[in-house]
Amino acid sequence: MLNVKDRGNLIAQFPEEDFAKKGLGAVFREKIRVTEFRDTPPEYQELVTRLLTIQADCEIGSAHIYGAKWLLRAPTADDMHQLSRMISEEVDHFRKFNRLLKEISADGMQLLRKESSERFLDALKVSELPTWSDVTAFSFLIDRVGKYQLEEFLDSSFLPLNEAALLPVIISEESQHVAYGQSKMMDLCADPKGRAEAQQALNRWYPLALDMFGRSSSRRCWRYLEWGLKRRTNAEARRDYIEEVNPQIAAMGLEIPDETAGRKYM
Ligand SMILES: [Fe+2]
Ligand SMILES: [Fe+2]
Repeated sequence: MLNVKDRGNLIAQFPEEDFAKKGLGAVFREKIRVTEFRDTPPEYQELVTRLLTIQADCEIGSAHIYGAKWLLRAPTADDMHQLSRMISEEVDHFRKFNRLLKEISADGMQLLRKESSERFLDALKVSELPTWSDVTAFSFLIDRVGKYQLEEFLDSSFLPLNEAALLPVIISEESQHVAYGQSKMMDLCADPKGRAEAQQALNRWYPLALDMFGRSSSRRCWRYLEWGLKRRTNAEARRDYIEEVNPQIAAMGLEIPDETAGRKYM
């Protein structure tokens, strides 16, 4: 039987094109414990570190964005309460991913103090949400991408991600953020002025949300798949997202934005 390192090297030999032809048969199916992490090939270590760092960055970036302007200006006490809860949960998600980073001798504490312009993903590179309708669209669209990202990590080859108390809890909290955004967008759509504002916010955030999945031709995306660190290609995850969110947009009486308009990463 091959040890972890040899299996890793074997998989690393497959060029991207071959993997596409071979399909999922080439996926690395070992489960790596923290104690085995330093024995895995450098590429595996680099991808796990990158994946955890980006996720931690998105979590703390969301907390900053929600807190920047609207925490004390939310329209009602109930909204303020919901927003407080969401911010706390995003900080807690950061804390959980940072704990995993520390377990592999990395540290994401510097992400706490980063300028928003230096965040990994464009959607998180804003210092605040200009209008309340942006808050609702952000929860409805961007937190939903967060949920999709987290679902990619289910049954990961990096065993600590499979702790029972980790992903199921975070995904359930993200689902509640999305549901909050959806209900608030629906409230906005109750009158023509609110609907027009909701449409504008939707048009601003929809391309950023789709871009969060990355380029369809990304080579790194195949490496994540080969190493058992993600389950879908960028294009597949984006397509699933579009199929889920578009009917919800239509049901609110809003116009579905053009999938290609304003996009940076196709
Ligand atoms: Fe989160
Ligand atoms: Fe969230």
